[in-house]
Amino acid sequence: MNEFYRGRRLRRNPVIREMVRETQLSAADLMMLYFVVDTTDEDFKKEIPSMPGQYQLSLKQLEKTVGEAVDAGLRSLMLFGIPKHKDAIASEAYAPNGIVQRAIRMLKAKWPDLQVVTDVCLCEYTSHGHCGILKEGDTCGEVVNDPTLELLAKTALSHVEAGADMVAPSDMMDGRILAIRETLDKAGYVNTPIMSYAVKYASAFYGPFRDAAESAPHHGDRKTYQMDPANAMEGLREAAADIDEGADIVMVKPAGPYLDVIRMVRDNFDVPVAAYQVSGEYSMIKAAAINGWIDEERIVLESLIGIRRAGAKLILTYYAEEALKKGWVR
Ligand code: PBG
Repeated sequence: MNEFYRGRRLRRNPVIREMVRETQLSAADLMMLYFVVDTTDEDFKKEIPSMPGQYQLSLKQLEKTVGEAVDAGLRSLMLFGIPKHKDAIASEAYAPNGIVQRAIRMLKAKWPDLQVVTDVCLCEYTSHGHCGILKEGDTCGEVVNDPTLELLAKTALSHVEAGADMVAPSDMMDGRILAIRETLDKAGYVNTPIMSYAVKYASAFYGPFRDAAESAPHHGDRKTYQMDPANAMEGLREAAADIDEGADIVMVKPAGPYLDVIRMVRDNFDVPVAAYQVSGEYSMIKAAAINGWIDEERIVLESLIGIRRAGAKLILTYYAEEALKKGWVR
């Protein structure tokens, strides 16, 4: 640095600050998340207690909510389903007329340009709440890998057959990207991308989501398939494996506590990187905002720009809808 350097020259007014801004955040970067419930009550719209401002929605209410979001500039969303019946083999996850499959058909018929992405996992559909099949008499939630792959592939295919633009497997089984890619290709869907939850940690930040999706495991935890929060190098191996198997986009999840991991993935691979600002991250900001302890708009924008600056192009966030509706992001 020369002796004439003065950093403040480029901070003097809003115009010059915008001219030299290194990182942008725009509507195209944001993906919203929605929970759709299989219910005959068309008016069903239930706020999630641990996620103020987020709802479980009937198909009809989803249509209304998404309509407003699309008008505000929303371009993409991801769906989670809450089925009527759960069982040991997650039948509703791949039922041709399951709640997510119906929601996809409705959304794509109404908004053909909206990118409809689906979370591919079994935990919302299994009676025990784990992300796959368990052995008889299991006591610790040690999901059996290979038989689970078949059901995941079947689930992904059913979403794509219903019209999904992209599938996003979040189960953390080994080999699931390849299993899904092969199944989609064999059915002729060679152009449907897979966004892999490649680097997904066994995180306490998912707590509120499990209330929202009614998917908390009844026994044991997810530590035999989701990653140890202490590990970053392992995240590179996970991303490499998924890219090898055909992942088009790789995701890091959660986002805020793992910015270093986002940066490592960005620097080591050449595919687009996504990051998921998860339920717990949302709930903590929202709770502080409701209490009047923070400036919500500025905190949300700072947390999102931090995720972009770390190297994620795409951000999955429960704030997407609100940020667009309130004009925080355009
Ligand atoms: C399904 C899944 C989870 C989340 C996204 N997909 C829960 C989990 O792994 O327990 C969490 C998202 C959030 O916390 O917002 N497996």
